[in-house]
Amino acid sequence: MSTAINRHWLLLDRPKGGNFSEVLSLREAPVPDAGEGQIRVRSVYLSLDPTNAVWMQYDSYLPAVPLNTTMRGLVLGVVDQSNHAKFKVGDIVTGMGSWADYTVADGSSFGRVPNIPGLPLLAYMGPLGMTGATAYFGLLDIGKPKEGETVVVSAAAGAVGSLVGQIAKLKGCRAVGIAGSADKCNWLTGELGYDAAVNYKEKGWQKALKNAVPDGIDIYFENVGGEITEVALSLLNVKGRIPFCGAISQYNSTEPAPGPRNLSVLVSRRARMEGFLVLDYAPRMAEMYAEMGPWLAAGQIKWKVELDQGLENTLTSFNKLFTGGNTGKLAVQISDEPAR
Ligand SMILES: NC(=O)c1ccc[n+]([C@@H]2O[C@H](COP(=O)([O-])OP(=O)(O)OC[C@H]3O[C@@H](n4cnc5c(N)ncnc54)[C@H](OP(=O)(O)O)[C@@H]3O)[C@@H](O)[C@H]2O)c1
Repeated sequence: MSTAINRHWLLLDRPKGGNFSEVLSLREAPVPDAGEGQIRVRSVYLSLDPTNAVWMQYDSYLPAVPLNTTMRGLVLGVVDQSNHAKFKVGDIVTGMGSWADYTVADGSSFGRVPNIPGLPLLAYMGPLGMTGATAYFGLLDIGKPKEGETVVVSAAAGAVGSLVGQIAKLKGCRAVGIAGSADKCNWLTGELGYDAAVNYKEKGWQKALKNAVPDGIDIYFENVGGEITEVALSLLNVKGRIPFCGAISQYNSTEPAPGPRNLSVLVSRRARMEGFLVLDYAPRMAEMYAEMGPWLAAGQIKWKVELDQGLENTLTSFNKLFTGGNTGKLAVQISDEPAR
């Protein structure tokens, strides 16, 4: 698909309380040309990530997206113009692009997508992309699971969470998920092989979690923050580890987070909580491909990309992250996949 028009989502103001539709506007402009040393990438898939809400609001590990510019997003696409020695037209690449039909970039934030036989391109949006790397390195490098340990994951039926429990199982651990609906919990314990799952929207979930971890929690993979963290902390074992991946419950808050109020558990249990960023693992992606690739090819890890259609539907799709509307990795298809 090619078009002379580049549709793009302009960020007009900083969102408050998740009012994304009031601050983003879909605009049209001529497709830009790649300048000296640049590439132009036609977006095929746009990754929708909770952290996008942070980028809209304030400086964090990346600067906030400047107002009146195109929203930033992780893209998988095809190079359709190249003035860069490293890339040629037709290369399939992934990297930091835009909520747009096309991204023009200097190439430093893009890399070629590998081609592991038998795996579809969409896998590189999910388990073999940034999402997979987050689950893989967050659990293995930060959590350091040992056989027989209990791993609890929040937002367990989401992009990262759905992979973390499965990797934990492959490493000989007991995996327990926390998710926001009975259907999600059934998916976790059914198709994905989690040992137990707890619906945190049901009354008495705190007790249900306690019952699901008779030997306590050795690793709590943190995706959510707030009360869920507080309950997980209360069940943490001595020498427990908390890979701190994210705190989605707080990304749209207009009030300061109320808790957790029991952080001193880290002292009494001699436990460790450590934040990490998947961007830091970019040089180690080959390690992830080497282990995750065969797991995926052998069907030992199941994965799902919830794929919505059309750049124009990006905002409707994005909202799902904050209402629990997605299962697995959320992405939008913007144009047709190239032949491989
Ligand atoms: N550190 C890193 O480098 C890195 C990289 C990628 C992602 N992350 C973080 O990892 C976490 C998961 O990201 P993801 O991409 O895998 O997204 P995701 O889990 O696919 O999507 C978000 C899910 O979070 C749950 N959720 C939303 N609001 C919630 C709330 N207030 N309380 C509890 N659960 C809530 C919803 O599921 P339910 O139906 O279960 O509520 C929703 O479906 C996020 O915190 C994200 O920022 C960090």
